This record gives sequence, C-alpha cells and structure tokens, in this order.
Amino acid sequence: MNNNNTKKNRILVIDDEEHILSLLKETLELSGYLCDTALCGQEGLRMLRNKSGYDLLITDIQLPDISGLEILEISGKKYPFLPVIVITGFATIESTKKALRMGAMDYIPKPFTTGTVLSAVHNAIHASFSRIRGRRFRKIVFRSRIMEQVMELVSKIAKTDSTILVTGESGTGKELIARAIHSNSLRSTQPFISVNSGALPEGLLESELFGHVKGAFTGATATNHGRFRVADGGTLFLDEVGNMSPTMQVKLLRVLQDGEFSPVGSSDVLTTDVRLITATNINLEEAMSKNEFREDLYYRLNVIEVHVPPLRHRTDDILPLAEHFLSRQMGLEERDSCVLSSSSASILLSYRWPGNVRELENAMERAWILCENNAILPEDLPGRMLSSLDEPPNIFPSGDGIRLDSLLENIEKHYIINALKQSKGNRTLAARLLGLKRTTLLARVNSLGIAKDTGRN
Ligand SMILES: Nc1ncnc2c1ncn2[C@@H]1O[C@H](COP(=O)(O)OP(=O)(O)OP(=O)(O)O)[C@@H](O)[C@H]1O
Ligand SMILES: [Mg+2]
Repeated sequence: MNNNNTKKNRILVIDDEEHILSLLKETLELSGYLCDTALCGQEGLRMLRNKSGYDLLITDIQLPDISGLEILEISGKKYPFLPVIVITGFATIESTKKALRMGAMDYIPKPFTTGTVLSAVHNAIHASFSRIRGRRFRKIVFRSRIMEQVMELVSKIAKTDSTILVTGESGTGKELIARAIHSNSLRSTQPFISVNSGALPEGLLESELFGHVKGAFTGATATNHGRFRVADGGTLFLDEVGNMSPTMQVKLLRVLQDGEFSPVGSSDVLTTDVRLITATNINLEEAMSKNEFREDLYYRLNVIEVHVPPLRHRTDDILPLAEHFLSRQMGLEERDSCVLSSSSASILLSYRWPGNVRELENAMERAWILCENNAILPEDLPGRMLSSLDEPPNIFPSGDGIRLDSLLENIEKHYIINALKQSKGNRTLAARLLGLKRTTLLARVNSLGIAKDTGRN
C-alpha cells in the first residue's frame, strides 16, 4: 500500500534577484516545502510545462523578459488549479490590484519578513481550492436545509455594502462564504483581500493593514501601501478578528466609523472605500463580557451575522461534500476513478467532524492517495473515524434545527453496523441483538446502504 500520504507541497518561485530566490528557497525549505526557482519568466514557464505537480507559484511582477502579470495570465489559462502569489517590489498599487483582479491569490510586498511569506504561502496552499480563480472551483456544496438557509441569506446580503460577521467553528467554510459574498457583490471586479489577524503580531498586523512609510521602523526600507488601500473599492476579509489586540481594535474601529486610517510612521490621514467582512471562531459575546473585545467594535462588525453551522449539525452535507472532494481529486490526476464504498459512507456519516469540512476534505484527499482499488474502503479512512463508530452518534438539539429523518437514519445505521460487528457479520444474531426479524434487518441493511459484509472482516 502506498503510505505516502504526507506529500510535501512543491512551490516554484520566479524572481530575477538571486538573493531573493535563495532567501525564499531557504525559508520555504526550512518550513518543509519543496522549492524550485527560476531567474526569469520564460524559464519559469518552461519549468511549469516540464514538471507538473506544483502546488503554488510565486512570481515577481517585474521581470526582465515577460512580466509577472503575463505569467499570471498564461498560468491562469493553462493551469487553472495552480494558485499564484505575486511579489510586488516596485510595483504600483495599480499593478498589485490588477494582479489580484486577474486571480492572484495574494501579494507579498518587498522587502518582506519570513513570517509574511510563510503566512501567505500557508493560506494559499491550504485554502487553495476555495480560492482558485474560476468560480467552478469555488463551488459551495450543500444539501442540508440549514445550509440552504445560510446561502439564501448570503445571496440577500451580497449586493449590499453592509459589514458582515461570519461566525462558526474552524473549518466550517467561513472564508468560502466570505468569498461568495464578494463574488456576488457589486464589488466583484475589484480585489478580495484576506488577512489573518490572528497569525500576525500586533506591529506587523498594523503595517499589513494600514501600510507604513519608508523608515517607519527598522526594516521598513520601502513604503508599504497596506491592505486597506489595495482593497479600496473591493472587499477586505479579516479572519480571526477575535484575536486582535486592544490597540488594533481601536484602529479598526476608526476605519469603520470614519473610513480613515494612517500608515505606520505617518500622520497623513487616508480614506478607503472597503467592504469589511470579518470572521471568528471564538464567541465574541463571551470575549466582550471578559473585556477582551470592545463592545462598540462588536456592534460595528456585527451588522449582519452569518453563522456557518458545524458539519455534525448538517449530516445531509457530508456525502455530497465527500463526493465533491473525491471527484476533485480525480480531476487532478489521471488515474482510474474511485467511488466511496457504502461502509465508508456509513463511517463518514456517524463521525463527529471536530475539524468540520476541512477535516473531511483532508480525509478524502488521504483516502484517494491510499485507495488501491476502485473503492474507498474503511481502511483508507483515518483510524480515529473508525473508532468513532463505537461511540453513540451525536444527538444535537440546537438552535440551527435538525433533519429528524436523516438523524434517525444515522442512529439506526449506527446500531445496525455495531450489531453486525458484534455478531461478526452473523445476521441472525445481529437481528436478535436488535430485536428485529432477520428479513427486516436485511431490508434495512439494504435501504440504508450498509455494506453487505459489515462485521465479517
Ligand atoms: N460547503 C463547502 N463546499 C465545498 N468546499 C467547502 C465547503 N465548506 C468548506 N469547504 C472547504 O473546506 C476548507 C475550509 O474552509 P474555510 O477555509 O472557508 O473554513 P474556515 O471556516 O474559514 O476555517 P478556519 O476557521 O480554520 O479559518 C476549504 O478548503 C474550503 O474550500
Ligand atoms: Mg478561515
């Protein structure tokens, strides 16, 4: 069996400055990425052509032969799956915005810190599928009534300019929803810029958001425009807003109240026209009661709240999402197609999904790598999911509402699978354990899609 499920991500960097290339290569390789480099655009394109399997392209905008924008255009047509980050050394704010409009996922202004690079690379690779240009790949998959209601709300609010707070556990799809709001808004032709407020220390976050002038602090060897300016006319998505320091909370409040801000090291007052979408996976009301989050900021941010429910509260979405992630994997590689076996489907349905959709996405990628035949079997799923079968299924009366029919089906499935396991696949015994007639059990096994050989292996 192929156990190579911890594949290293491969990155191609194109930049005409040798020291930048070697700095980036070293930074990326120390963080566990594989990195190839090219000193000009043509060489970079040749490498993309000859060596498939890059997970990310980082390219400078200004190159001696062809521009980074052309590379962006070519790669967008030929490799629509490949996320691109641009390096904007001497680039103007207009060319940075152009790159973002053309589908670059992010930009790194020069000079950069390793922290900025690694956070941009991490975001680009891990959220790449939700961010990849081409709406097809930003598809939001759902079947549950609760998600249908969320999406109805999203389409209603998209066209407005209201500030939106997206709440929900980690991995539920908050950023995907924020992007959907942007791409259905009147600002959709302008940049969508995402900043993870929780990942950056206070000083760095301030200059990321508001920019800095040359000489503002040690290392500020060039002016940085800041994300609020680059996002002007578009949407700024601030993730993990609950982790912002009190000082940053005050600065953010100022932009929301007056549309004004000042770059670090400057007393200039700049204005910006940005639609703000923030997200958090912590409870801001609780943070407010502990004086960790400003009440005035909370009410400014929470003009409209979109709550994305955890996956365990919308079991109807599990199988459509699993199929979606599986078919996406199939689209990436030329290999025989592969289906989800009914026994694996039962496991996915009864698991609690603490990591939500992201965990399911990763599980399906792993299963695709491990799968040897044309079906994903339980052994291709992470071990923790198998042991969850022994726990009672989760029963979760919640404010989001439930689908009683699918919930009851899941519970029934769970008990039948466990009875079959306990009786080592002997159906007469399993039926007796469940107080059912054997024929009733067989009919239920059939209609619930439980694998015929459950318990025998
Ligand atoms: N309904 C969905 N359909 C398709 N893909 C989804 C859906 N929901 C989430 N995903 C995928 O799951 C992954 C996690 O989603 P996303 O990054 O939007 O979650 P998040 O709530 O912002 O997570 P975190 O709290 O960790 O920042 C992404 O790759 C995204 O594309
Ligand atoms: Mg997120």
